[in-house]
Amino acid sequence: MTSKEYEDLSVKEFTKAAEIYESDNAGVYKMCKKDYPDVLAELEKEPFTDLLDCGCGTGPMLTLLHRKYPEKHYTGIDLTPKMIKVAGRKKMKGVELVVGDCENLPFAENSFDAVICCESFHHYPDPQKFFDSVYRVLRPNGRLVLRDMTMDSAAVRWFCNTVEMPLAHLIGKGDVRIYGREDIRKLCDNAGLHMESFEKRGFCRLHCVVRKPQSTVDRYDSITDSYKQSRNIYDNVLTQDKWWSKLYIRLFWGGVDDNDIAEKVLSFIPDDLSGRLLDVPVGTAVFTHKKYSAMKNADITCLDYSEDMLSQARERLNDLENVTLVQGDVGKLPYKNETFDILLSMNGFHAFPDKKAAFRETYRVLKKGGRFIACFYIKGESKITDSLVRELLVKKGWFTPPFDTADRLRKRLQKAYDLTDFKVEGSMVYFSAVKR
Ligand SMILES: C[S@@+](CC[C@H](N)C(=O)[O-])C[C@H]1O[C@@H](n2cnc3c(N)ncnc32)[C@H](O)[C@@H]1O
Repeated sequence: MTSKEYEDLSVKEFTKAAEIYESDNAGVYKMCKKDYPDVLAELEKEPFTDLLDCGCGTGPMLTLLHRKYPEKHYTGIDLTPKMIKVAGRKKMKGVELVVGDCENLPFAENSFDAVICCESFHHYPDPQKFFDSVYRVLRPNGRLVLRDMTMDSAAVRWFCNTVEMPLAHLIGKGDVRIYGREDIRKLCDNAGLHMESFEKRGFCRLHCVVRKPQSTVDRYDSITDSYKQSRNIYDNVLTQDKWWSKLYIRLFWGGVDDNDIAEKVLSFIPDDLSGRLLDVPVGTAVFTHKKYSAMKNADITCLDYSEDMLSQARERLNDLENVTLVQGDVGKLPYKNETFDILLSMNGFHAFPDKKAAFRETYRVLKKGGRFIACFYIKGESKITDSLVRELLVKKGWFTPPFDTADRLRKRLQKAYDLTDFKVEGSMVYFSAVKR
């Protein structure tokens, strides 16, 4: 079925149900009432002022909230005009009701502190569009509280999605799909959102809290702080010169040696380069200082956001006259278009808070025919690494989602570069690409 056909089915189903939806004759929809106290309790954990209810229907949740907190500002959106009409009859002051599609929320960026979505999400034909849209309208640090149906077993979900739902379409139901924990996590990752909790409550209820990260500036600051706290162990970890750092590499990266990868990456750069090279983020220059000592003819600029990292890099690179150290943001590089012959980025892209801006800026300052050379973490290669990254490195602030898979990264690069080398070792990718 096409998206339009699914949506038409949903509108048809709820046009029929609108008048009885909140009554005692609501049949299967009566089950939705069980969700409202849990959603309210979740919302009450943090203050909010502007709330959006996605797929609000006749507005039972808005009614509850409005009664309890009449001073706040509420917006409800629903695809079915009749559901919105019934909600409108309640004449709730300060509640705005909109007929519209949750996959394309018609609100300004950063408009809401909280978004709720109860028993509506399984009707959306393109769930990623919904998550992308929620990311856009949520304020930094804002939450999505998602309530829907789920089943623990992948086999049971498969049965529901491929057998039960097509049968339900025959009796006029617009359901599309139910999801498990990993599905929701992927949707969050791709949208740049963080899945804070995912619980199955009762027999088949999904109760999930998703958060939009703080603003890029705040994230830069917390990243800077986390690197500051770890400045003394940073080099030990990367170079594995302590027993525990060797263990970390074995556990985290499945034995992939980042010293080896660093060597391979740096071998893409000729020692006799006579053009300009930008190294971002330089970190402590732990891998690069030897290489730069050999590159006597190149004009090398090393940039990092963290003063702490730069001060250590300065100590290492101090006597190299052709090396300049600069404090700056990869998302806003202080250079003209097409300034550099080589753009080197080692272990940076998994940490950069605004990756789109980083890809855009590194591309912009590179000359046509210049080389983009990099290595960093990619997800989807090892379950162990992925979960350790998620549970530890992201929480520590060393890594910042979303992360590309190898496939996604290759496609992203191929749009603007010719890939001459693209290798994956464990969960690390390294490549050399020529700007077209
Ligand atoms: C089961 S009702 C839930 C209503 C309410 N949230 C509640 O908890 O009682 C599902 C609602 O989702 C709406 N819906 C389905 N697809 C939608 C979409 N793409 N955008 C907005 N609303 C949608 C339907 O019109 C319907 O009102």
